Amino acid sequence: MADRKPLISGNWKMNHNHFEAIQMVQKLAYALSQNDYDVVDVSVHPPFTDLRSIQTVLESDDIPIALGAQNCHWEAKGAFTGEVAPGMLAKMNVSVVIVGHSERRELFGESDDEVNRKVKAVLANGMTPIMCCGETLEEREADGAVTKVKLQVLAGLAGLKAEQVAGLVIAYEPIWAIGTGMTATPEDAQEMCSAIRGVVRSKWGAEAAHGVRIQYGGSVKGANAPDLMGQSDIDGALVGGASLDADEFARIIGYRLVG
Ligand code: 13P
Repeated sequence: MADRKPLISGNWKMNHNHFEAIQMVQKLAYALSQNDYDVVDVSVHPPFTDLRSIQTVLESDDIPIALGAQNCHWEAKGAFTGEVAPGMLAKMNVSVVIVGHSERRELFGESDDEVNRKVKAVLANGMTPIMCCGETLEEREADGAVTKVKLQVLAGLAGLKAEQVAGLVIAYEPIWAIGTGMTATPEDAQEMCSAIRGVVRSKWGAEAAHGVRIQYGGSVKGANAPDLMGQSDIDGALVGGASLDADEFARIIGYRLVG
């Protein structure tokens, strides 16, 4: 691992109402200590309806967990029924926004161009995007995984300056590993994360490649976190199912203490 501080993020997807969310974050905070926050950045990404409640808990109890969102629109305001503007999130002290999750791409038809607009809008509002990429099982079996992921990275980050790329987060989430219990092997995950860093290096230069944090996501659990996090190009994890259990998520965050 280089000198990048790992970021471990809990993507709650469409789970937990605001009462459950408050309990969850209080339990998580109880399970973590300053020793964790010193070496790992932690973010939670609840549904939009929970954000204000979680913000209040984090700020009133001085909990150093970053508040995150799962999506946003790229426009600042307007006639976009059902959408949420990035400025609205920033106003609630949301600091990290997941953009282009494969569920958004596959289930809601989000295109690379839309992902790119969202990344730019998140940055323009002073927040950090987690730009997701990843291949399907068919693409992997056809040896197309690296090509697909490289193109997603180039398209999603198109038009950004090197210093912007250096400060953002890319999440590599193989679609076949999401919610299936089938994790990529640490070696396969490392190979793809290294390829992603290589694309960043060739397009935006060495400093951007050195700075950008690359998370792995897909069936991350307390038991497999140490091996995944031990890879030199993996700088954190984007956790779905296991982040809904405060104790299990705390085990992932404490990956360096296991074994
Ligand atoms: P799981 O951890 O449930 O496989 O989900 C991964 C994910 O999609 C996180 O964004």
